[in-house]
Parts: sequence; C-alpha cells; structure tokens
Amino acid sequence: MFIKKIVPCLVITLLYSTQGYGNKLMIEQFISPETCGGCHSQIYDQWQNSMHNLAHNDPVYLAVSQFFMSGLSDKDEIAEAESCVKCHTPVGYITGYPTKSSDDRTKIAEIATHGIQCDYCHSATGADKMYNNGLIINPGNGEDDPGIKLGPRKDAESDFHETKFSKFHTDSNICGTCHNVKHVSFGTDLETTFDEWEKSPYNSEDPEKRVTCQGCHMYQRIGIPATGSTDRPDNKGTAVDDGPVRDHVFTHNFVGGNGFIPGRSGSDDKMKMAEDRLKNAATLLIDDSKVKEGKLNITITNSGAGHKLPTGLTDFRQMWLEITVVDGKGVELFSSGKLDENGYVPENSIIFNTVYGDGKGNPVLNIAKAREILKDKRILPMQSLTEEINFVAKNSKIFGKKLEEINVHARLLYRSGSKKVLDQVAGKNKFIMPVVTMAEADKTIKL
Ligand code: HEC
Ligand code: HEC
Ligand code: HEC
Ligand code: HEC
Ligand code: HEC
Repeated sequence: MFIKKIVPCLVITLLYSTQGYGNKLMIEQFISPETCGGCHSQIYDQWQNSMHNLAHNDPVYLAVSQFFMSGLSDKDEIAEAESCVKCHTPVGYITGYPTKSSDDRTKIAEIATHGIQCDYCHSATGADKMYNNGLIINPGNGEDDPGIKLGPRKDAESDFHETKFSKFHTDSNICGTCHNVKHVSFGTDLETTFDEWEKSPYNSEDPEKRVTCQGCHMYQRIGIPATGSTDRPDNKGTAVDDGPVRDHVFTHNFVGGNGFIPGRSGSDDKMKMAEDRLKNAATLLIDDSKVKEGKLNITITNSGAGHKLPTGLTDFRQMWLEITVVDGKGVELFSSGKLDENGYVPENSIIFNTVYGDGKGNPVLNIAKAREILKDKRILPMQSLTEEINFVAKNSKIFGKKLEEINVHARLLYRSGSKKVLDQVAGKNKFIMPVVTMAEADKTIKL
C-alpha cells in the first residue's frame, strides 16, 4: 500500500526535476552589478573590467570560440564547441538563453552580458560537481525582493538585502568548479587549476599554512601582488560605502596573468597588477658546475603560484625560457627562445605548456577535438624544474685557450596567448599581446 503510493510520487518528482520545473530561474530575478555598485562602490570598481566582468565580451574568447565552431561535423566535438556559455555567460545560461555558443548574441539579455557578476556569485549556495561550473544558484526576485546575499561575514547587515554567512564563499571550491574544465564528450582535462591547487602544499590542514584562491587573488591590489612569495597584508577598510571598518575587505580585481584584456578595456591598473603578479611567481638560477662539458643547468622555481605554472588554458598561454650565451668578446655561442620575425616562439624553444591530440597522436589546435594530452610540461607549486642547456659541443675546439669566459643571460618570459594561434584564429596582427619578463638571471663564468 505504502510503496504503491510513494512510487508514483517519486516518478512525478523526478519528472519535474529533470525538466527543471521546480527551480527554473528567470533573468528578471537577477540584479544588475551597477545596483550593487551603488553601495559597494570600491568592490564594483575593482570588479569592473576584470576578466570576470569581461568573460562574455572578451574579444580573444570570442575569436577562439568562433574558430572552434567552424568546420566541425562530429557531434561530440560540436557539443564541446557549443558549451562555452556555461561559464562565459553564466547568468544567461542558467535562465535559459543562450543555451549554446552559436545562439544569436544580439538576443541575450543586457544583464547577462556583464559576465561573471555580483548577484551570480553571491547567490551561489554550493556546487554539485567540481568541474564545468556546477554552481547551484538561488537568487532573490529582482530589486524589489533582492533575497539573501551570501558572503564571508556573520555580522553583516544591510537594509537592502538579507545577508548570510557562507562557508562556501570562504574556500576554493567556489572558484574551482569553473576553474576546472573538462571536454564535455571525451572527458579530457582542459583546465585543472583547482585540481593543481588541491594537490599542492597550499591546501594545508594547518590554518597557518593554508592559502585558498581568495588568499592570493582576493588580497591583490595596486602595489600588493599578494602571491605565495610575497606578503599578503590585510586590506583594512569598508566593504560598503559608509559601512563599518573591517580588518580585511576582500578585493575583487580577479587578476591572473592577463593584463591585455583588462588593459584593452581601459584598466591600466589591472594591466600593472597582472605584471606584478607574474613578476612575483617564479625564480631562475644558473648552475655552471658542468660548464667544462659545454653544459649549463637552469632551474626554474614556482615560488608564487598556488597551482602549476602556468595554469588554465596552457595550450594557448606561453611561458618559455630565453637564453643567450656569449664569449668574452660578445660573440654569440648559443641562443634559444628568441621571437622570430613574425613574433612567434620558435618550435625548438623550452616552453612550459600543454599539447592536446586527436586520439591518434596528432596535435590539435581546436580543443573540441582534444581526445588526449600529448604533452604537459609545467612547474608544480613550490617546486622546481631544471633544464640542461648544451651551449657548445663537448669536444669543441673552442675550449682551451680560445674561450676564457662566457656570459649567460636567461629570462623566463610569459605571454597570455600564442601569437601564431592568434594570427590563425583572428587574422594576422589583430591581437598583439605584450611579453612580460617573469624572472631573469645573468652570470659571467671564467673558464
Ligand atoms: C543599499 C545599499 C546596498 C546595496 C544596493 C547592496 N548592498 Fe550588499 N551590503 C550592504 C551593506 C550595508 C552590507 C553590510 C556591510 C558590512 O557589514 O560590512 C552589505 C553586505 C553585503 C555582503 C556581505 C554579506 C556577508 O554576510 O558577508 C555581500 C556578499 C553583499 N552585500 C552583496 C551585494 C550584492 C551582490 C548586491 C547587488 C545585488 C548588493 N550587495 C547590493 C548594502 C548594500
Ligand atoms: C567570482 C565570484 C564573485 C564575484 C563575481 C563577486 N564576488 Fe564578492 N565575494 C566573492 C567571494 C568568494 C567573497 C568572500 C571571499 C572569502 O571570504 O574568502 C566575496 C566577498 C564580498 C563581500 C564581502 C567583503 C568583505 O570583506 O566584507 C562583498 C560586500 C561583495 N563580495 C560584494 C560583491 C559585489 C558588489 C560584486 C560585484 C561588483 C561582487 N562581490 C562580485 C565572490 C565574488
Ligand atoms: C562562473 C565561473 C567562474 C567562477 C565561479 C570563477 N571564475 Fe574566475 N574566471 C572564469 C572565466 C570564464 C574567466 C576568463 C574570462 C575571460 O575569458 O575573459 C576567469 C578568469 C579569472 C582570472 C583571470 C585569469 C587571467 O588569465 O588573468 C582569475 C585570477 C580568476 N578567474 C580567479 C577566480 C577566483 C579567485 C574565483 C573564486 C573566488 C573565481 N575565479 C571564480 C570563470 C569563473
Ligand atoms: C599562493 C598564491 C596563489 C594561490 C593560492 C592561487 N593562485 Fe592563481 N595565481 C597566482 C600567481 C602568482 C599567478 C600568476 C602566474 C600564473 O599565471 O600562473 C596566478 C595566476 C592565476 C590565473 C591565470 C593563469 C594564466 O596564466 O592564465 C588563474 C586563472 C588563477 N591564478 C586562478 C586561481 C584559482 C582558481 C586558485 C584556487 C584554486 C588560485 N589561482 C590559487 C597565485 C596564486
Ligand atoms: C567550466 C568553465 C568554462 C567553460 C565551459 C569554458 N571556459 Fe573558457 N575559460 C574558463 C576559465 C576559468 C578561464 C580563465 C583561465 C585562465 O586564465 O587561464 C577561461 C578563459 C578562456 C579564454 C582566454 C581568454 C583570454 O582573453 O585570454 C579563452 C580563449 C576561452 N576561455 C575560450 C573558451 C571556449 C572557446 C570555450 C568553449 C569551447 C570555453 N572557453 C569554455 C572557463 C571556462
């Protein structure tokens, strides 16, 4: 009897929940970031022109997304190419439009074009999976009934909206569910920033040693890079105009390595902050103990990043070594990693990146086709990698009287995107991203 009654109930509930009737969200429920900025003006200014604000309109993202969609016929590959809006236009996606990347962008509600925004993150109650954006969102009902804004405080009070402490907001999972990207059909790991952090010493049980994503990225401000190798001082101030003074107010610049996109939108501050962050992420060391054999060892240490170096879209981002060895008269003996006449990093350079393959060992440029990882050479958090350079053949006549001294110059360079890929995807010289020197080392060696 009991079972007979309960089964139909379950079936109905299941039907409802799979069709999403119970919790279908509407675009009118979301409040514009500008409204939040009316009281939280500093936080708004920081977030404005951040990568999160620009996620939907980022011109590099748009060019890459267009390129991925063109010329596909495999349905599994198309499914991936169409999946971008889930993270890049999340407010539109969860309220029903766009559902795929090829949907007409002119029909997207204005509020959704502001990317990853205040009311989206502060209505998140948890995540149902730790990749491909599993955030569970429970917004209010627009400005007349703003609902509960979740945050890090137990004593925040506002006349406008209710507030509630949320442990979820104080830890890395809220970031990680988007900063872990898997191919929707093949399951290939495309971005693993959260996984890298989770396995790192920064994910420590010891509260003294534990550093979350927020612990670095939501402490950064002008002049304070807040990386693993610098201080991360509190940002004393108010979270709301005329509000109570707090020992630390979490900053919302969301700066990583990319200064190009915020800079293009007019944020010189974030361009500078990205450079600051990169310059406090790694160190270089030249070891000459094997110099008589024509060898040098160059060690790169990830001293500042809470994940691998580099992280994120590492098939596209570029971090590489540029090395020059000259003799005492300045005649070049060896060089590597010098940009060619097109501004490309030469094929044989020492580059830290990921290369995806088509499942048969052939490299692919279009991530929609990524069935396997062919190469993943990056530096773990708080760890080092040593590269051996053969700057001159071992038995070269050059040793002996002729070569008395060498000068070595090494630089660790970073660029937010491969120029070769950008030229192919967007057209030649459409995007010219700056090259940032993350670290450098010089050594004069007497032989
Ligand atoms: C009319 C002014 C006003 C507006 C508009 C406003 N807030 Fe607030 N908000 C406040 C005040 C006041 C506090 C309390 C600050 C404190 O105690 O430090 C607050 C606190 C918060 C907190 C911290 C909650 C906690 O428990 O940690 C969050 C998150 C927040 N607001 C998000 C938002 C978002 C998102 C919007 C836009 C949808 C918004 N606020 C719009 C006034 C406002
Ligand atoms: C990517 C998600 C995300 C976005 C977008 C975002 N926030 Fe936050 N915000 C957070 C997190 C996470 C915290 C708490 C960090 C912690 O405790 O470690 C926070 C903290 C806050 C606080 C409390 C600050 C304090 O220290 O008392 C306020 C207020 C706030 N946010 C308002 C806003 C407003 C206004 C916007 C839009 C201009 C915004 N947030 C956009 C994730 C976000
Ligand atoms: C809804 C998904 C989502 C959430 C949640 C999210 N991010 Fe992001 N984040 C993105 C996307 C998408 C971009 C890239 C936007 C673009 O292409 O312009 C990004 C960019 C960034 C960047 C800039 C990267 C660069 O190359 O410079 C940083 C830093 C960052 N996020 C940190 C965080 C932190 C810290 C949190 C948690 C407080 C967080 N994110 C939460 C999706 C998300
Ligand atoms: C110990 C400090 C620290 C912690 C913890 C940390 N980061 Fe970073 N992050 C950095 C530094 C330094 C950089 C700049 C170097 C680089 O690009 O990797 C960076 C860069 C980034 C970038 C841009 C990568 C690129 O080159 O495009 C993203 C995205 C990012 N972090 C997200 C996160 C997320 C998400 C977490 C938590 C899971 C996190 N970070 C934890 C220090 C940290
Ligand atoms: C699960 C969430 C998620 C999905 C889905 C997603 N992205 Fe992203 N995307 C991110 C995050 C996080 C970043 C920032 C990572 C970093 O900076 O290294 C990012 C950054 C980018 C960037 C770099 C933008 C710049 O200016 O440097 C491009 C390009 C990009 N995504 C393209 C795409 C395309 C195309 C798709 C669909 C095929 C897609 N993304 C799907 C989370 C996502």
